[in-house]
Amino acid sequence: MSRIAYVNGRYLPYAQAAVHVEDRGFQFADAVYEVVAVVGGRLVDAEGHLVRLERSLDELRILRPMSRTALAMVLAETVRRNRVQTGHIYLQVSRGAARREFAFPAGVSPTVVAIARNVDMTKADASARRGVAAISQPDIRWGRCDIKTVGLLAAALAKQAAKEAGAYEAWLVDRDGFVTEGSSSNAWIVTADGALVTRPLGHAILGGITRSAVFELARQEGLRLEERPFTLTEALAAREAFVTSTSSYVMPVTSIDGKPVGNGGPGLVAGRLRAIYEAHSASHGAGRPDWQAQFLAP
Ligand SMILES: Cc1ncc(COP(=O)(O)O)c(C=O)c1O
Repeated sequence: MSRIAYVNGRYLPYAQAAVHVEDRGFQFADAVYEVVAVVGGRLVDAEGHLVRLERSLDELRILRPMSRTALAMVLAETVRRNRVQTGHIYLQVSRGAARREFAFPAGVSPTVVAIARNVDMTKADASARRGVAAISQPDIRWGRCDIKTVGLLAAALAKQAAKEAGAYEAWLVDRDGFVTEGSSSNAWIVTADGALVTRPLGHAILGGITRSAVFELARQEGLRLEERPFTLTEALAAREAFVTSTSSYVMPVTSIDGKPVGNGGPGLVAGRLRAIYEAHSASHGAGRPDWQAQFLAP
């Protein structure tokens, strides 16, 4: 079956799907994106992703291309046309195409692209049972990591370093020695006395949709939650570590820079949270947070 992409109002076979050479997403990374999980052919936490997308667009003063409901319909239709059951949909909105000039062009319409694909989760499930390795890398990204832009070069470099070290993820460390997040995930630890710790929202991290969902589910489970920065030393002394993201769900991290976290195996808390999160995604977002409230700050 040929894959179908949504491009600016049309559903096209991949071979015909294209954007302009002077698109600002290509020239300046002047674009934002979302990756939404698909389970049972339906989107998971769609509202959260669309609220975050609108926030990213507004922060960069890129026009909202259509209403939230219309975008949700485009996503659902792209999923349907590609017969995605379990997988992801990628949505990108750039400021538009215009003669190359740094300042914003007048009168351009945003470029909208959506692509969807099936993903075999067997490998991720096996990784979750074993646990994965992380390495640390300096966080060399820009100052507004809360905006989900396609400016992902620093993240790509960190992920490549992880791959070359045989690790799954790179944990990024700020100038003060605190972990900000993973190159494409949020970072968490479970301290020796059982507190679940993750960095608070702010300009230094992306407010992950999975982070918010897991935070809410953990709260409902009665777990003690602390939103504060933590160091690599603290992570290595922790009982457990894990990452959350749309593609990894909840993934236990069992070593950092080759040193074991806790007993070196996947932890009970991460295992429990993964199971609850899987149930949450199978229900497409039941027990969800108040998404609007999640992203009003900062
Ligand atoms: C830098 C960064 N942090 C966190 C996340 C996790 O966000 P989400 O849970 O919305 O997928 C991602 C996802 O791509 C990311 O790129």
